[in-house]
Amino acid sequence: MAFRRRSCAVLATGAVMMILIIMYFSAPSPTVVPFIPGTVDWSQFEHFHPADSIKPLPTDRPRRLPPVQADRSLFKHSELTEKRRAATRDEFLRSYNAYKKRAWMMDELAPLSGTGKTTFGGWAATLVDSLDTLWIMGLKKEFDEATIAISAMDFSVTNEGGINVFETTIRHLGGLLGAYELSRQPTLLQKAKEVGEMLYVAFDTPNRLPGFWLNFEDARNGRQVAGTNDPSASPASLTLEMTRLSQLTGDPKFYDAADRVIRFLDRVQNDTRLPGMWPLTVNFQGEVADGDTFSLGALADSLYEYLPKMHALLGGVDPMYERLYLTSADVITHDLLYRPMVPDNADILISGDVRVNNQGHNLSPESQHLTCFAGGMFGLGGRLTGNNTHVEIGKKLAQGCGWVYKAFPTGVMPEIYGMIPCESAESCEWDESKWKPHGDSIPKGFSHARDPRYILRPEAIESVFIMYRITGDTEWQDLAWKMFQSIVKVSRTELANAAIEDVTNSESPKIDSMESFWLAETLKYFYLIFSPPDLINLDEYVLTTEAHPFKRAR
Ligand SMILES: *[C@@H]1O[C@H](CO)[C@@H](O)[C@H](O)[C@H]1NC(C)=O
Ligand SMILES: *[C@@H]1O[C@H](CO)[C@@H](O)[C@H](O)[C@H]1NC(C)=O
Repeated sequence: MAFRRRSCAVLATGAVMMILIIMYFSAPSPTVVPFIPGTVDWSQFEHFHPADSIKPLPTDRPRRLPPVQADRSLFKHSELTEKRRAATRDEFLRSYNAYKKRAWMMDELAPLSGTGKTTFGGWAATLVDSLDTLWIMGLKKEFDEATIAISAMDFSVTNEGGINVFETTIRHLGGLLGAYELSRQPTLLQKAKEVGEMLYVAFDTPNRLPGFWLNFEDARNGRQVAGTNDPSASPASLTLEMTRLSQLTGDPKFYDAADRVIRFLDRVQNDTRLPGMWPLTVNFQGEVADGDTFSLGALADSLYEYLPKMHALLGGVDPMYERLYLTSADVITHDLLYRPMVPDNADILISGDVRVNNQGHNLSPESQHLTCFAGGMFGLGGRLTGNNTHVEIGKKLAQGCGWVYKAFPTGVMPEIYGMIPCESAESCEWDESKWKPHGDSIPKGFSHARDPRYILRPEAIESVFIMYRITGDTEWQDLAWKMFQSIVKVSRTELANAAIEDVTNSESPKIDSMESFWLAETLKYFYLIFSPPDLINLDEYVLTTEAHPFKRAR
């Protein structure tokens, strides 16, 4: 799959690696880890459909946006918090060491069978994704060792015919950039640029919107086109990573490429079947968004998440992102969010789906673990735009996710579940007769748990963490601690942690899977919520959808 070979071949042999490692450890720190280029220089790829112009990065002075975090004086760090923090780090180290021992340089560890898996191109997805967690947790030795290994990785060699553009962006590119932000280790930015150059090839389509896959054969033959029915979140949540890469390298083409996708979304936002939102799947090739289903769950989620986050990253200098966020947030609030009828009458919010037909639109009160990011989104968006209503909505969403965790016998939320919407959000008395017809093997308040797995996902703790930093209120830490203990209890294996089949069963069988987000996101958020608020301060950093911290323009 080589496009243009470098004139001088690079010998990344084991011997060279050994010498580099010896050089590294014998040199006084801080040391610069040597960069070993990949065998293909993607920057030399000649586009069949080059951009006719490249939009420069905004040069306006960043606006002073309102603070995200609560006042410093509101945070107390106790011995109890420190104990909890240590427990989250121990849990991380167990899984990380098992990965190191059993699956080093593979994409994932299989936590039951103890072998390695190739799931994302074979470029050590777990290691790249968890690099900045190592740094944040102060695991310097592990961080250095991982950085050396990653610096020698060849991102142009894969056995796959193509790569998933979205996943490679959020896990690999995001992981490298996040680790670079914290450590300023130049080789990590150079590797990030290599991955970015490869991903940039995906934008070589007639309308410069990327497809879901970067297929190397198609790319070589100039046959790439955008998808006609692609998940809206896939091309639409590349902006943070591509923009940060442009900011750090000074080359605006990455920003230009990802920004074009959002310009398209901007053109059609008010003409969709639920004006203000975009359907689950979109025809990026024909630039038409006429689908009939709207959700904050799978396929669409991070599209919305990235709107306020881009506003933060750019320091508020591009009004488009704020406008897109505010317009969609209104529709989400009005049409997707609902108060569920629950036995303790808790005043919480859940995010459902909307289907539009000729008669109008219907709320489907089915929700997903993935939608739990929304609490954090409304919290962050509300703070950045100075709208306290959004912050309150965010709180109720995060509390809603916490409520669902507590309601199941394992203390963990299922992947997909249904609840019963209240007639009105203002008051809602529990009426057991309305729930009874559903209630068989399901906790009170739920209509079903259609997909009862828990796959070590982060979205609920992500929102709980953001709410903690916004309020300084220790009740969020207490909720997090309960969630952490429940997750550990059901997921721990002899080696690491595993997804589970059924949260309705406290003896649930496990699944031989530990996706990279367990170390990159879930345990990072658990660690951060028990850390002092200056560690990854949300007024300095914005976290990507894979929890990689990027420095905000200020
Ligand atoms: C879409 O509609 C909202 C109001 O509902 C408005 O504020 C926004 O400017 C509109 N967007 C465009 C691109 O016209
Ligand atoms: C805050 O957000 C709510 C809900 O989106 C909206 O109705 C309200 O007008 C906003 N308030 C301000 C001051 O912008």
